[in-house]
Parts: sequence; C-alpha cells; structure tokens
Amino acid sequence: MSAVELFGTTFQNPILLAAGTAGFGRELDDVIDLDLLGGIVTKAVTPEPRQGHPALRVAEFRGGMLNAVGLANPGVEAVAEHELPWLAQRLQRARIIVNVAGATIDDYIRVIERLTPLDAITAFEINASCPNTNAGGLEFGSEPVALAELVRACRRASTRPLTIKLSPVLPDIPAMARVAREEGAEAVTLVNTMPGLLDRRLGNGSGGLSGPALLPIGVLATRRVRERVGMPVIGVGGVRTAADAREYRAAGASLVAVGTAALADPRVPVRIARELSHD
Ligand SMILES: Cc1cc2nc3c(=O)[nH]c(=O)nc-3n(C[C@H](O)[C@H](O)[C@H](O)COP(=O)(O)O)c2cc1C
Repeated sequence: MSAVELFGTTFQNPILLAAGTAGFGRELDDVIDLDLLGGIVTKAVTPEPRQGHPALRVAEFRGGMLNAVGLANPGVEAVAEHELPWLAQRLQRARIIVNVAGATIDDYIRVIERLTPLDAITAFEINASCPNTNAGGLEFGSEPVALAELVRACRRASTRPLTIKLSPVLPDIPAMARVAREEGAEAVTLVNTMPGLLDRRLGNGSGGLSGPALLPIGVLATRRVRERVGMPVIGVGGVRTAADAREYRAAGASLVAVGTAALADPRVPVRIARELSHD
C-alpha cells in the first residue's frame, strides 16, 4: 500500500501508534524501529505534570481491556525540552502527532502554544473526550457549543494542522465532526475509548474500554463521517491485524492507529504496515 498524503505532508504508510499506548516512543525504541511506521501519536500532554490514577490502571476482559491511566505525563515543559527532541532525532520518515488534553480550554492552549514552534510536529490531536471542569465535567466533545469553542481556540493558537479525537458514544458523531471542520480542524480521529466499569479491578473504578470490541464501532463511525461529512479520518479502535486495518481503510480512513494490540506486542504495528505494503 502506498504512502498517504495528509496534513500537507507524506506518511510513508498509513499505520500509526495510537495515543497513550507508546508513551513518547522511548520504551519501544529497543524493541522496534519506530521509523518504519507512518507515525507515532504521543500520549496526552497537559500543561503540568500528572501522576495519573492509582493502580491498578488496566484490567483485561474478553473483549479487550479497561484502562484508567488518568493522562499521566511529564507536563508540556518536559515534553518540549526532552521527549519531543529525543523522538525527533530518532525519526527520519515517521511523523509525529502530539495528543493534547486538558480540563479547561486554557490548558489546551498552553500546551499548543508552547509546542507549535517545534518543527518536528506534523499535527496536534486534540483529545476532546476530557471532562470540561467549567461545564460540570461534561466532555468537551459531547456538546456542539463546547466543542466549537475548543476547536476555535486551538485553531487560533496554532498554525499546525489539527485532528479532533472523538468519543464513540456520541449520539451523532458526524454532526460533531462537522462542527470540528467548520472551526478549522483538518481531520477527526475516530474513536477514543468507551466508558466502562469493572469495579473490583481498577484503582479508579471506571475506565476506558479499548481493544477488539471497539473495531466495528470505530469502523462504523469512520464510514458515517466519510459519507456525511467527507473530511479525513484517522481510524483507531480494535486493530490487531492487517485485515482489521483494511476495514478502516475500506470505510474511508486515511490513517489507522494501533493501541491495545501494540501494548500486548509492540511489533504488531510494523508487521501490519509491512503486510499492507503488499496490497
Ligand atoms: C493505556 C491507554 C492509554 C491511552 N491514553 C490515551 C491518551 O493519552 N490520549 C488519547 O487521546 N487516547 C488515549 N488512549 C486511547 C487510544 O489512543 C485509542 O483511541 C483506544 O485505545 C482505541 O484503540 P485500541 O483499541 O487500538 O487500543 C489510551 C488507550 C489506552 C489503552
């Protein structure tokens, strides 16, 4: 399969590491050649360092797993000074997309403004599934006015392309994708984890469901947005094999990200990219 044009640049293949499942790449460096991927989406970056939620942070079940990591990250300053420069010097061809999270719009802006000058960044992925503390904890992406405000503010704060990452549990995903596009986003990332509870297994109680159970949900969201809105989609959720990645591509996704399957075996995304190259 050939290279993909998106965000005004070329991805050598369509396979990305999904946000939060590969950190900033360091942990995988000894295991795989990151530069064989289309790109890596970093874990969420917030203005201040975050410890995240108490253990246990992941719990497996038959359809995949639940995680309650709580956006643990070293904060934007350490990311700008250490993590992204390290990753940039490791990569010649694979692209870097930075996942951004916050509890207020100002949080997102602080991260984006600090990181926009870094040349290595191809795009920002705005995690719109974060609870908005100014709206009683309702997710930014669950309501059109809040989503429009968030995307508009991010658009003003950066010259870099934006992809808006949406939850799979919205009543009308294409309508929210349209809001994102009208406010200047180039793409949407579909889908984030789905809320779930296995109370006796996670430190935080509830968590986000990822893995195989998400595959048909993400593929449907991708298809609907492509049909009804027509904007570029990064497909993510439940991809374990090249056949799964082809499902997203057939539904219209430009790029496909692999998360949970890469936690289990970090070689999976490169293997999928290699298999797709024979298509
Ligand atoms: C441990 C873990 C951490 C994650 N962290 C983030 C994150 O920081 N930001 C984000 O937007 N999504 C995050 N996600 C969601 C994934 O990027 C992806 O959307 C989701 O897991 C579905 O893909 P998968 O089934 O291939 O894992 C995380 C998922 C997992 C399992």
